[in-house]
Amino acid sequence: MQKIGFIFDLDGVIVDTAKYHYLAWRKLANELGFDFTKEQNELFKGVSRKRCLEILLDIGNIEADQEQFNRWMVDKNIDYLAYIEKMDASEILPDVPRVLTYLKARKIPIALGSASKNAKPILEKVGLLPYFDSIVDGNSVSKAKPDPEVFLIAARNLGVDAKKCVVFEDAVAGIQAANKAGMLSIGIGDADILSEASHNFKDFTEIDDNFLEKLLN
Ligand code: BG6
Ligand code: MG
Repeated sequence: MQKIGFIFDLDGVIVDTAKYHYLAWRKLANELGFDFTKEQNELFKGVSRKRCLEILLDIGNIEADQEQFNRWMVDKNIDYLAYIEKMDASEILPDVPRVLTYLKARKIPIALGSASKNAKPILEKVGLLPYFDSIVDGNSVSKAKPDPEVFLIAARNLGVDAKKCVVFEDAVAGIQAANKAGMLSIGIGDADILSEASHNFKDFTEIDDNFLEKLLN
C-alpha cells in the first residue's frame, strides 16, 4: 500500500491567528486614514503578505512607491509579531493536538503548508513544532496559493505521492491549491465558503477517529 501524507495549513487551521493579522492590518489602515472591516479581512485568508498589502491599499485608494510599500509590509509584520510573541498552547484550535497525536502514533508523515513567513516561530511558541516532519512556508515558495506549489513541495519533502496527500485548509485559495495538486482537500470552517473542498468540517472536534481511519485506508 502506498504511503499517505497529511498537510496542514497554519493560520485558521492550527491556530486562530487571523484575528492578529486583522488587528495589525487595521492599525496600518487607520494610520493611513481609512477603516478596515472584519468582512474585508476574509479576503486576506491564505493570501501572501504582499498581496494583502496590495488589496489593503486598493481598499484605501492609496498609491505607494516600492520603498513605501516595503516599509508598510515591515511595519505590519512588526505589529503582528508583537501579538505572536504572547502566544502559547492555549491558542491552539480545539482538537488539533488530538488529531496530530493520532497520526503521529501511526507514524503518518505530517507537513505544514502555509503562506506565512512566521510559521515556524508560531509552531514553536505553541509547542507543536515536533509533530511536523516538514515545514513548507512563505519562505519556501515562489508562487502563492491557489498555486499548488506549497503543497507539492510538502508532498515531495514527505516522500509521498501528491495523490496520496490529505490537506486541511480554511481558505478558498488553499482548497483550490490542494485540488490543483490532486490532493484530498478538507475544508475547516464555513462549508458554504469552502464548497470546493472534498469534505467539510466546522473544526477538528467534528473529525473523529473513524473518519481519520477511513482516510488512512
Ligand atoms: C496566511 C494567512 O496563512 O499567511 C494570511 O492566512 C497571511 O492572512 C499569510 O497574509 C502571510 O503571513 P505572514 O505571517 O507571512 O505575514
Ligand atoms: Mg489559513
